[in-house]
Amino acid sequence: MDLIPVPRVARFDEGGRRYAFGPDPVLAAGPGTEGVARLVRRELGAATGWSLPPAGPGAAGDVTLRLAPEDGERLGSEAYGITVDATGVELVGASEAGLFWAFQTLRQLLGPDAYRKAPPPGRVWSLPCVRIADSPRFGWRGLMLDVARHFMPKDGVLRYIDLIAAHKLNVLHLHLTDDQGWRVEIKRYPKLTEVGAWRARSRWGHRASPLWKETPHGGFYTQDDIREIVAYAAERHVRVVPEIDVPGHSQAAIAAYPELGNTDVVDTSALAVWDDWGINENVLAPTEAVVRFYEGVFEELLELFPVEVSPFVHVGGDECPKEQWRASAIAQERIRELGVDGEDGLQSWFIRHFDGWLAKRGRRLIGWDEILEGGLADGAAVSSWRGYAGGIAAAEAGHDVVMCPQEQVYLDHRQAGGEDEPMPIGYVRTLEDVYRFEPVPPKMSEEVAARVLGAQANVWTEVMEDRGRVDYQTFPRLAAFAEVVWSRQPAPEERDFASFERRMAAAHYARLDALGVDYRPPGGPLPWQRRPGVLGRPIEGEPPIA
Ligand code: ACM
Repeated sequence: MDLIPVPRVARFDEGGRRYAFGPDPVLAAGPGTEGVARLVRRELGAATGWSLPPAGPGAAGDVTLRLAPEDGERLGSEAYGITVDATGVELVGASEAGLFWAFQTLRQLLGPDAYRKAPPPGRVWSLPCVRIADSPRFGWRGLMLDVARHFMPKDGVLRYIDLIAAHKLNVLHLHLTDDQGWRVEIKRYPKLTEVGAWRARSRWGHRASPLWKETPHGGFYTQDDIREIVAYAAERHVRVVPEIDVPGHSQAAIAAYPELGNTDVVDTSALAVWDDWGINENVLAPTEAVVRFYEGVFEELLELFPVEVSPFVHVGGDECPKEQWRASAIAQERIRELGVDGEDGLQSWFIRHFDGWLAKRGRRLIGWDEILEGGLADGAAVSSWRGYAGGIAAAEAGHDVVMCPQEQVYLDHRQAGGEDEPMPIGYVRTLEDVYRFEPVPPKMSEEVAARVLGAQANVWTEVMEDRGRVDYQTFPRLAAFAEVVWSRQPAPEERDFASFERRMAAAHYARLDALGVDYRPPGGPLPWQRRPGVLGRPIEGEPPIA
């Protein structure tokens, strides 16, 4: 039935029988299913025009929702089952999350129109008779959105939560700060957003491009926006992991509060939010005052992201050039005071400080794989982006790992080799390449592999100026990624990409159309998806790594 991600078991009725809904179906919601029932009424109700009133006491519904926690003991808490027969459809979840994933499969069974927000006139609805049993391979099935390089307004983020939920992904990592913008309101430091949330102009294309977009760019989420995003995601069983990137990638913060920078090396009061792309040498000063400042930032952040939503808080830690610390008398004095091993030791002191600080507050630090370099506390986890090596080293040292190797799952990289790809950067990573991505490296022992929580596709937005560009880079490859992290797949070379492609063509592109996604069509970009004359930076000649 063209389901994506493909379920573990699906047995369709051999006679091709279907269950036909009448004009006014009823919903039977078992104990504990009220949250999912509310969403089914709201979202399926919008698509179909049904109001889905409750079935009478003890009566079955056309749609029945039930929790069966005992199923979770064997199959994990996100397991679910679906039965469609002559009496209607029953969705069973080992937990509310499982039941929510069952609802996502139900939408796919109903057809692409089930993703619309109003029904086409005269549409009647039916389901194929089927039994489905399904559960995910990994517990961390993520997408990272870089809302710092180009801001994605709040309604766009809510839409992305819908899109990732429709693909049974369950983590949204928000990259909230970078040199080019600070995107979250921090009440005690208002200049972070008054000054730090916008820039006067932007490089148009990759940093190799000579072009500039001479219009201001900016935006930020208020604390109420964040609460709304977090609550909206939680209703959809998506965890939001916030990232505040330290001690590098911090020019926007330094532009707002110049005392955060290395004031004895550069005149930080002359810095503006960065308008260019690349690695920036204006990094935080390694002082107690700066650490206290960021404790204040994290204090407010922890209130916005309650522990039950995400125990993990991402502190970045990547790409922190050390030139300023080498030149700074203050930084050199800190190295002596702390007795750490040079500038690299300062960086790990910085990260370790927040590791302990977060652990004391019942949270777990996660950071890019550079944070491994100084050794980490027990509960910390690593996002492995510079290939698999950091993830392997972290898992072997007993840390949890999220695999997001740049050569495989950085969706800013171009998805075809042609001249028509808009602002093409990085390696060619086709839909098939992403389909053959394997989160667990070969030869990893079962015990170490258990440390791989899952994987995440990362969408860096330097060359994505708006929602359409983000959609284009993200889809359809995110559908392939979803199947990798949800479904139990054979080794990369044995995967049935032809089956995936067939399901895409038969149904999934139509679902994306109904959802209003500006994906890259299989035949290449449409004229308005091209950016002729805007330079990217393709990397040539590297074979995809399976
Ligand atoms: C990264 O791509 N700098 C994490």
